[in-house]
Amino acid sequence: MTPTLGVCYYPEHWPEELWPKDAQRMAETGLTWVRIGEFAWFRLEAQPGKLTFDWLDRAVDTLGAAGLKVVLGTPTATPPRWMLERHPDMLALDAEGRPRKFGSRRHYCFSHQGYRDECRRIATLLGERYGRHDHVHAWQIDNEYGCHDTTLSYSDAARHGFRDWLARKYQSPDALNRAWGNVFWSMEYADWDEIDLPHLTVTEPNPAHVLDFRRYSSDQVVDFNRIQTEALRPFTDRPLIHNYMGSIPGATDFDHFAVGADLDIASWDSYPLGFLMDRVDGANADHKSRYLRQGDPDFQALHHDLYRAVGRGRWWVMEQQPGPVNWAPWNPAPLPGMARLWAWEAFAHGAEAVCYFRWRQAPFAQEQHHAGLMRPDSAPASALAEAALVAQEIEAFGPLHPAKPSVALIFDYQSAWVFETQPQGADFSYYGLVLDAYRGLRRAGLSVDILPPDARLDGYRLILAPGLAIMSDDLKARLAASGATVVVGPRAGAKTAEGAIPVPLPPDLPGLDATVALVESLPPGVAEDFEGSTGRFVRWFEHLEGAAQAQIATAGGRPALLGDKGLHYLAGWPDRDGWDRIVALVASEAGIDIVALPDGLRLRDTAGFRFAFNYAPEPIDWNGVTLPPGGVHWWALS
Ligand code: GAL
Repeated sequence: MTPTLGVCYYPEHWPEELWPKDAQRMAETGLTWVRIGEFAWFRLEAQPGKLTFDWLDRAVDTLGAAGLKVVLGTPTATPPRWMLERHPDMLALDAEGRPRKFGSRRHYCFSHQGYRDECRRIATLLGERYGRHDHVHAWQIDNEYGCHDTTLSYSDAARHGFRDWLARKYQSPDALNRAWGNVFWSMEYADWDEIDLPHLTVTEPNPAHVLDFRRYSSDQVVDFNRIQTEALRPFTDRPLIHNYMGSIPGATDFDHFAVGADLDIASWDSYPLGFLMDRVDGANADHKSRYLRQGDPDFQALHHDLYRAVGRGRWWVMEQQPGPVNWAPWNPAPLPGMARLWAWEAFAHGAEAVCYFRWRQAPFAQEQHHAGLMRPDSAPASALAEAALVAQEIEAFGPLHPAKPSVALIFDYQSAWVFETQPQGADFSYYGLVLDAYRGLRRAGLSVDILPPDARLDGYRLILAPGLAIMSDDLKARLAASGATVVVGPRAGAKTAEGAIPVPLPPDLPGLDATVALVESLPPGVAEDFEGSTGRFVRWFEHLEGAAQAQIATAGGRPALLGDKGLHYLAGWPDRDGWDRIVALVASEAGIDIVALPDGLRLRDTAGFRFAFNYAPEPIDWNGVTLPPGGVHWWALS
């Protein structure tokens, strides 16, 4: 399919006489989509039951008349103030037990039944009115679940919901006591009503308690979303979408694969410079300064590949950074060309659409320093011309077809919860480990599919599965039988489903005689060198026993990468050189060609084309062309 561009627009922020001009200008820029409505609940219903759709009718008609396709949001991320009068206990409570109050957004608890009913009601009303509207071509449900750390709530509604969830899961308090190991510290329960949420304890709560609470909380997001999909489906055949986040603390708090199963398209909100300043694991000061105006060279691509999996092949960027944002500790401006590069990179990874956030910079309220495609005075901001250029380019390019990569990386939300609960090393982050593995693959020029743990594995020649804390026997067997070169570890199968250490000890992999005898976390500055002086383990190192052959050993003679063919076990967290060495070794075993890319250059293959993206601040000569900073180039593959 030929990719498309769009923009996020807030008609309620602007005088109505601007709407037709804006719409025309969007169409002239070559935009296809305009997302509206996702924060406009008060303007739709200023008093309970008193609905005013006329302005939204006019907005949709005006945008549609200019040839734009509307993505209509359900406004449930911003319940109006009167909602609190109706449901005083609907607010989420933080881990300290404090209410997360009205005055910004996302002030609701996913577990609250009354608020869920209100969401069903407004989604139904919107579905009835716009479900078959000629100009409404897609729906966005809510906005960024989990944003502002809102998945976990310690409210009464959550407490009662959690008890019911536990009673269904364990059937008896005794079974729960056994599963959680509550004999430790006399934590046994005699009744469901004795069980509280895992917070405000003297020292850390039982990790099994926390893990189940994380699962319960994730299930609430799934249920909350499903209420709205079920409300909308009877009225519309158009795709239902949610805009997920870049994986920052809090963004992995619910199972996106489970939410995505109820939706038609996954989308995510890509703010490369904000993420780099704020949130990219392992980004030191040098890295931040080198990529200050371009963003991390792998962070966006990882999310593109992740959300392609969440959307089962269909995905968008719903919000694309166009200029400085407002929310990072520092907010630099992108290099010229980046608003174009980011869009093309998304398309090369299979995005159907990229929508810039937002049309016009708002001169008021929280995000007044957040750039748009237009300045507050309606003059074009720098990204407008780049968006127009991309629109022309994609039209000239025509359909872009994905190609199945030969490399896969398995991603599991539950593993993130396990390691957040018991990291055993202050800087052990599941997300960071996955990102480092992905970086290693990308530095070697490889295109990657990200897969959920239950995905089919056939057709891949190389599969990485770093840090899968909980591994079912089924997954172990499928990996071993996949015929691919597989690397699991560190910490593979380190926990049972209840969050305990399994016996037999991990990794307990079919056909691999290796046992983790001891684990140690390594503070910053401490490393375990590999023999041959290239590569080392940082942050995490496991001492292994067993007869499996070491492909790479540490300088101290311990196994670092075990297993001679097929299934391999990785005994720690490699640094950059370590990953490069491991990727080269296993790619060669898998018969996959790799390239050593210049620093900052990244590739992505589609069916018929190879795309190159220059994230470096200097020009790069490669394969007969010079890519300027922010440059994009593509070649037809023979
Ligand atoms: C996103 C959010 C948008 C806007 C944007 C600013 O997280 O979905 O509504 O706040 O960030 O960068």
